Amino acid sequence: TSYMTQLRPQFHFAPKNNWMNDPNGMVYFNGEYHLFFQHNPNDSIWGPMHWGHAVSKDMVTWEELDIALYPDEHGTIFSGSAVVDWHNTTGFFDGEAGLVAIFTYHLDKGDEQPPVQTQGLAYSHDNGRTWIKYEGNPVLGHTDKIDFRDPKVFWYEPSQKWIMVLATEQTISFYSSKNLIDWHFESEFGEGLGSHLGVWECPDLFLLPVEGTATAKWVLFVSIGDNPHGSIGSKTQYFVGEFNGSHFTTTQKDTLWLDHGYDNYAGVSFSDIPQEDGRRIYVGWMSNWRYANQVPTAGWRSQMTLPRTLGLTKVANGWLIKQQPIKELFDYTENQVTDIQFGKSYETTSPLTILDMVIDNMQAGQVTVTFHFGDTEEVKLIGRGKEGFVTFERANSGNIAFHDFFKQDASVTINQPITAFQAIIDRYSIEVFINNGRFAMTNLVFPQACLTSIQIEANHDNIHISEGTILVAK
Ligand code: FRU
Repeated sequence: TSYMTQLRPQFHFAPKNNWMNDPNGMVYFNGEYHLFFQHNPNDSIWGPMHWGHAVSKDMVTWEELDIALYPDEHGTIFSGSAVVDWHNTTGFFDGEAGLVAIFTYHLDKGDEQPPVQTQGLAYSHDNGRTWIKYEGNPVLGHTDKIDFRDPKVFWYEPSQKWIMVLATEQTISFYSSKNLIDWHFESEFGEGLGSHLGVWECPDLFLLPVEGTATAKWVLFVSIGDNPHGSIGSKTQYFVGEFNGSHFTTTQKDTLWLDHGYDNYAGVSFSDIPQEDGRRIYVGWMSNWRYANQVPTAGWRSQMTLPRTLGLTKVANGWLIKQQPIKELFDYTENQVTDIQFGKSYETTSPLTILDMVIDNMQAGQVTVTFHFGDTEEVKLIGRGKEGFVTFERANSGNIAFHDFFKQDASVTINQPITAFQAIIDRYSIEVFINNGRFAMTNLVFPQACLTSIQIEANHDNIHISEGTILVAK
């Protein structure tokens, strides 16, 4: 089939059929990256949750496997994580290493009572192909909190313990364990800090090196559920601070957002990426709870962001997460144009197009990039001024009628000059990275046609493109 008829993303993971939300249990083991995901195998809207499963050798090409976890008497299977139990701390593996999934059971109690959320375990003896539920489930019982979910677990070397980071209504709770089975409450974080516009979900905690130094800081991701009365939909915030095996602390005053588009939620990082690789890589769900159930796709619904490598930069007033698409993506691309100029339009017929430009003196005026999808549909990415104001306009991007919220612009003021833009265009999405990934803007679009051309303009003679490349799929 020609690229014009492609009705699916080509370089982003999407389920073959039916509904998907959060990425779950991302882990590297025995040469494979595993991606599990919130999945309703029976319908293309959210419903009884299972863990779908896909594997990849490079995080770009994914093979969808059989469903990994089905609901049982303890509930449906909500979000969670997976780890390699290298030293058989659980006793599940007879001296070998193996995969353990730590997930939330969601048990509906009917209309009269609130649902019950507990944490359960499952393990695999065959590289994640089949799973055995732990017979002692649940391993962490219900508390007075109704929202008590999305365990992200990692091994904390100094205390030789597993740490569980759990979303507990509008705080994050930390638990510790020697064996993944018996859990002890350590502390709770977040009251009065950051954004509380919605329920706190899908946390992650990891150490990130500080760019240009020999030091590292702990970063806590917290996704904020949709508040139907709010203006942002669902969105992910982060905190930068310290973790001592028991408590997370921060001196951060502002709310920091991971992404300035509408479609990057519930992002968490891979577990057990080998030390010699050293990267911290995360994947987000490329949708927004405000309209996720309505997006106009046929038979399947939702896709993931590209996997992104994380970094941390110190800036005058605090910290900035830096995120860039994994380098493996560029094994699939080649240069099509290497000297892009203002005032020109570049055609493409590739299923994946990447625009990469370094711009001098953008504070002198405005740069507009127009992504054309056939003759009538387009997206405009505009950057301007000393303050670095960026907008992403999707009101003319094709099908926007499925939800009122979808037509609004995404925008951000980055408070620094814009020096570089990277845009990655696949079927139904545009991921924008500003200033080498210091700011991200991830947005879905539903044009009828695939991308046909990119037009680049500046409104001032002093603005120059010092490096400008268009890459396409090989
Ligand atoms: C986040 C979330 C999680 C929950 C899952 C249910 O998008 O609400 O908190 O575990 O989705 O599908």
